[in-house]
Amino acid sequence: MTEKRLEALEPEQQELLNAAEKAMERGWNPRSNFVVGAAIRGKSGKIYTGANVTLSTTGMTACAEVAAFLAANMAGEREFTAIATIVRNDGMSVDAPSGPCGRCRQIIFEFSQMASVEPMLTLYSNTDKSRVIVATIEDYLPSPFLSGRLREKR
Ligand code: THU
Repeated sequence: MTEKRLEALEPEQQELLNAAEKAMERGWNPRSNFVVGAAIRGKSGKIYTGANVTLSTTGMTACAEVAAFLAANMAGEREFTAIATIVRNDGMSVDAPSGPCGRCRQIIFEFSQMASVEPMLTLYSNTDKSRVIVATIEDYLPSPFLSGRLREKR
C-alpha cells in the first residue's frame, strides 16, 4: 500500500481516476451530500463508472463501486484489472483518502476473482487527487471468504 499524487500514477491509472471524478456528477445524495465516484477497468480495457446513491431512509445506500460493477455486468464484462474511487463532501474537498467500506471489500474481492489477471489494483483518492492510496484488494481484505462455487467458476 503506497500513497501517490495523481501525476505519479501510470497514465492508464490517471485516466481511470479522472473517469471516477467525472462520475461524481451522477451522485445522488440529497441528505448527506457525501459524493463518491468510481471507475473500473475491464480486461477489455473499457472503463465503467458508478456514483453513490443515498436516500433519506438511511438503510438505502448504494456505493459507487457497486454501481460501477453493475454497469459493467450489464455491458457483459465481468473481469477487471483496476478500480478507482474519489470522494467529495457537501461540495467541499475531503483531504484524506478513504478506503472501501466492508461490504465493498468483499464485492471487489469477489469480482477480482473472476479475472485471470490479479490481484485487482485499487486507487482510493481524496478530492483534489493529491493523495491516492494505491493498493491491492488483498491489502484491504486479508483472509477473504470465497465460496466453493466461485472457485469452480474460475
Ligand atoms: N460510499 C461509497 O460509495 N463508497 C465507499 O467506498 C464508501 C461509502 C457511499 C455510501 C453512501 O452513499 C455514502 O458513501 C456514505 O454515507
